[in-house]
Amino acid sequence: MCGIIGIIGKAPVAPLLLEALKRLEYRGYDSAGIATLVNGRIERRRAEGKLVNLDHRLAEEPLGGTIGIGHTRWATHGKPSERNAHPIATSRVAVVHNGIIENFQVLKDELVAEGRRFDSDTDTEVVAQLLTSYLEAKMSPEEAMAKAMGRLRGAFALAVLLSGREDILMGARRGSSLAVGYGDGAMYIGTDALALAPFTKRVSYLRDNDWVVLRLDGCKIYQGHTEVTREIRDSGLSGEMTGKGNHQHYMLKEIHEQPAVIGDTLQSYIDPATRAVRLPELPFDWNAVSRVTMTACGTAFYACLVAKYWFEALARLPVEAEVASEFRYREPPLPAGGVCIAVSQSGETVDTLAAMRYAKSQNQTLLSVVNVPESAIARESDAVLPTLAGPEIGVASTKAFTTQLTVLLVAALAAGRARGTVTAAQEEGLTRALIEMPEQVNDVLGREEECRRIAVDILAKARDVLYLGRGSSFPVALEGALKLKEISYIHAEGYAAGEMKHGPIALIDEHVPVVVVAPSDSVFEKTASNFEQVKARGGKLVLLTDAAGAARLGSHAAATIVLPTVDPVVAPILYTVAVQMLAYYAALAKGTDVDQPRNLAKSVTVE
Ligand code: M6R
Repeated sequence: MCGIIGIIGKAPVAPLLLEALKRLEYRGYDSAGIATLVNGRIERRRAEGKLVNLDHRLAEEPLGGTIGIGHTRWATHGKPSERNAHPIATSRVAVVHNGIIENFQVLKDELVAEGRRFDSDTDTEVVAQLLTSYLEAKMSPEEAMAKAMGRLRGAFALAVLLSGREDILMGARRGSSLAVGYGDGAMYIGTDALALAPFTKRVSYLRDNDWVVLRLDGCKIYQGHTEVTREIRDSGLSGEMTGKGNHQHYMLKEIHEQPAVIGDTLQSYIDPATRAVRLPELPFDWNAVSRVTMTACGTAFYACLVAKYWFEALARLPVEAEVASEFRYREPPLPAGGVCIAVSQSGETVDTLAAMRYAKSQNQTLLSVVNVPESAIARESDAVLPTLAGPEIGVASTKAFTTQLTVLLVAALAAGRARGTVTAAQEEGLTRALIEMPEQVNDVLGREEECRRIAVDILAKARDVLYLGRGSSFPVALEGALKLKEISYIHAEGYAAGEMKHGPIALIDEHVPVVVVAPSDSVFEKTASNFEQVKARGGKLVLLTDAAGAARLGSHAAATIVLPTVDPVVAPILYTVAVQMLAYYAALAKGTDVDQPRNLAKSVTVE
């Protein structure tokens, strides 16, 4: 949500700021803007809607200057409009901001009482006004920033431009991510390494409560009034890595990257010689774990739901999977010796982070499965199991989900081995099934044209779609429904197949397609009964199954996608790829914005 970029350099910055904002589009936004210093004065161009509108504004009224800040805004306080678009500025200070200033009303009342006039409906404006008030009281920019950090409450990242100060750019973070980029004769500040990738790979990740002053030749980072050092690292990202390649959308590119990234992820968790699972050292003993609490949001939560089946069956461990936004406020008692596993692509999701903090307060050991190793969730964990999905730009989670599943299955196997509930032979069999997964996923990608046809002929024409699954296919049904609704805006629901007759069956008629996720597993026959119940009521069935399942039920379905026959334990990874393609092609047929669906953000950094 929201994206920040700031540049101090020697060349005109407006085109560079715009380029960086394009890299941040994936985070989700509804307005955008940039500010630069022109002859020492703050000049802004802002526009509601997509970046193309800002681009037009800049074409009409170009902006000079070699220092500036830019922002993509996802509205929280104040509707999406040019007036509320960032940078928010006074004549002395321009600010771009991610997050929420929780005490903005108290600060605003104070500032209004001082006689300051507010021009926007944003919480951000208090930061610009507060800094202005401090500067007018003759504080240096550094003093003003240190003092402001003491007054602001909430989670935020900021970049600040000061009139008359071509020599410095400032930034600060608490909660929301912010990185400094070291260039050749230029310095950068941005939400993440992706935004900085076109300019530099050398980055420092700021920590909570850090604030920074950038100059042309480097930067100084502070906590309070004390200067601190932060390691400069190679982000490993290049501008090209974050492109779409030959694909029409990031989502399609990321769907197609799955064989490779699942393979990369497996390589770091399975010893190819012995086929044994190899986790990094963990700060707990699986034998001593009393309970596992898994927590996450959205698609990552569905990964937890699949993993619940795996940990319970393979490691015989009690597992609760909890939606983070509910878990954090429910305040459940958690047993001594418990482990909390948080799952997140971005590592920034604010509810997941808060749920982890709650678990920590209950003395749980925190293990996280994250795709961004520098993220807050990774940093606050006692141990991290990284997914090696690479940057995921499409708002719809695809390769992040399947690599989360891969890591979680490997972890469940490790737990099972440690607890003596998985034999060496079972471990070998399942790691073999996993090692074959990239090839099997490739095979599923080979069904792309079938998926496209079904999506166009059946799903895209529907107003409502049901997804059904049993056992570990139930979360896959949930994920299929989420994927479809978020990118195509078609209403879709995922249900446990056995629950259908307790309500949703009332919806079924010839206009409601029902996608049934049914690998040949121990519950296949039960799902088959539910399939027949839909058929009997005229439902239009789309069956996802293997050869045996297709032989048993295929003739009753409106369409069948036959997937490779695999060990049922790994089936959720494989079947997910098919539901991703169905959603993608339905969205394409509907003509929606696949990579940046309306109202959605890639990193959800507000509650
Ligand atoms: O970055 P996270 O994995 O923590 O994000 C969690 C959800 O916001 C995310 O999975 C969301 O549901 C996706 N848009 C689903 O495709």
